[in-house]
Amino acid sequence: MKSKLKISKALQIAPIDPRLWGSFVEQGGRAVYEGLYQPNHPTADSDGFRTDVIKAVKQLGVPLVRFPGGNYVSGYNWEDGIGPKQARPVRAELAWKSLDNNQFGLHEFMKWCVKVGTQPYLAINLGTRGIDEARRLVEYCNFPYQTALTDLRKQNGADKPFNVKLWALGNEVDGDWQIGHKTAYEYGRLAHETAKVIHTLDPDAELVACGSSMYSKDTFGKWENTVLDACYDDVDYLSIHQYFGNSDNDFAEFLGSSVKLEHFITDEIAICDSAKARKRSNKTLNIAFDEWNVWYHSSEADKKQKNWQYAPHLLEDHYNFEDALLIGSLAITLMKHADRVKIGCLAQLVNVIAPIMTNTTGTPSLWYQSIYFPFMQVAHYGKGIALTPETEVASYPSKNGDVSYTDSIAVYNPDAHEMVIFVVNKSKNPVDFSVEVKEFKLGKLKMATQFAGYDIKQTNENQSMKLTDLKTINVTEAGINATLSGRSWNVIRIE
Ligand code: AHR
Repeated sequence: MKSKLKISKALQIAPIDPRLWGSFVEQGGRAVYEGLYQPNHPTADSDGFRTDVIKAVKQLGVPLVRFPGGNYVSGYNWEDGIGPKQARPVRAELAWKSLDNNQFGLHEFMKWCVKVGTQPYLAINLGTRGIDEARRLVEYCNFPYQTALTDLRKQNGADKPFNVKLWALGNEVDGDWQIGHKTAYEYGRLAHETAKVIHTLDPDAELVACGSSMYSKDTFGKWENTVLDACYDDVDYLSIHQYFGNSDNDFAEFLGSSVKLEHFITDEIAICDSAKARKRSNKTLNIAFDEWNVWYHSSEADKKQKNWQYAPHLLEDHYNFEDALLIGSLAITLMKHADRVKIGCLAQLVNVIAPIMTNTTGTPSLWYQSIYFPFMQVAHYGKGIALTPETEVASYPSKNGDVSYTDSIAVYNPDAHEMVIFVVNKSKNPVDFSVEVKEFKLGKLKMATQFAGYDIKQTNENQSMKLTDLKTINVTEAGINATLSGRSWNVIRIE
């Protein structure tokens, strides 16, 4: 089979917002405890943070981390996680039916972000709480003047305001599983009033309103219309979430999930733009795809977990090779919408549906899942300007529509003086892949890697999976010719 990608530096989608490659840490399962924080672990630093995890997260290169939830935030009291640790309360955490001793709270997260070199994206509880919590939390974090709350922040060890720039107005409030689930009207009004107090305290705060928690949600579209009628002018982004699974064990359908994501994004953009038109607004609302991943492997194991434990082994999906191929394909879909999808959070980061897994004791202290590899590569090299991909390739039918056997995109990075090509081959067979450049010349090959050669169900507990060199490649000024392995993820960097 042949696959062709034509690119021109003049045909640009948009610069990729670096925050597209963010991630998410929820206070649930072992994401924080035994993940980010484990004071008794041999690698723990003086703050109790696992330095092996810090190193792995730095290597992954996530520029933004959403915290503390997820479903968790809708029942969370942020005040429980500040002040002397011995005085912090143990709470029954209702979202994951766990016990929470609040040893890792706001200050710990902010410190951890500094150590990792990432930006915080804080979610506000609009489930059990609301305007007053938002007012108090934003004042505590960002207000530059002396007040009782900013004094308290200083007393708790942070002299300077945290200056958190990005805030989520609740989480998945459209879902009836959510603590404090609301109708679209109730949520839209609350988001509007919450935004009002936040912007009074911090006019520069960027706000994210809840859109649909999944594309198949029965309220999809109607929810957004009502919510945006109430808060379009107040917010900067609309959040969407989507998880993918392969319970039917159908590789072709599973890899076709990128088409579903494509539909979700284009429909959500249309919804945002129709709200813009109804309001005759000059503002364009962008998308925060702030939870996305594969999630289904752990569903049965989770049903057997006992409730009300500390740091239970929940949502510990072990990802296989086909999951990694899908992550690559979804990442390409996101880059194709770089003009409107500005924020992304791979859900999640450590232990809970995550690219990084820790062992509580023993060696190795952590291991990388299969999905670590494509995500790490897009986080590092998916920087710069996404170019419009003009492609010629065969496709196969799926329930979501026709699926191209290859997905590809080029990103031009003027700062690094490089052109990066990302391409997934979903076909079982090798593909003759060519890139044709229009109106410019390619330089020398800097790097060509493939993630290939594994059984689609292979997982990576024994750390045998790795990127290898893509050797079957020839680069000239006019283009690239490469033979891509069957079922492979490939990254090509050219000067
Ligand atoms: O990431 C796991 C959960 O998925 C989050 O808590 C929730 O927002 C979503 O349903």
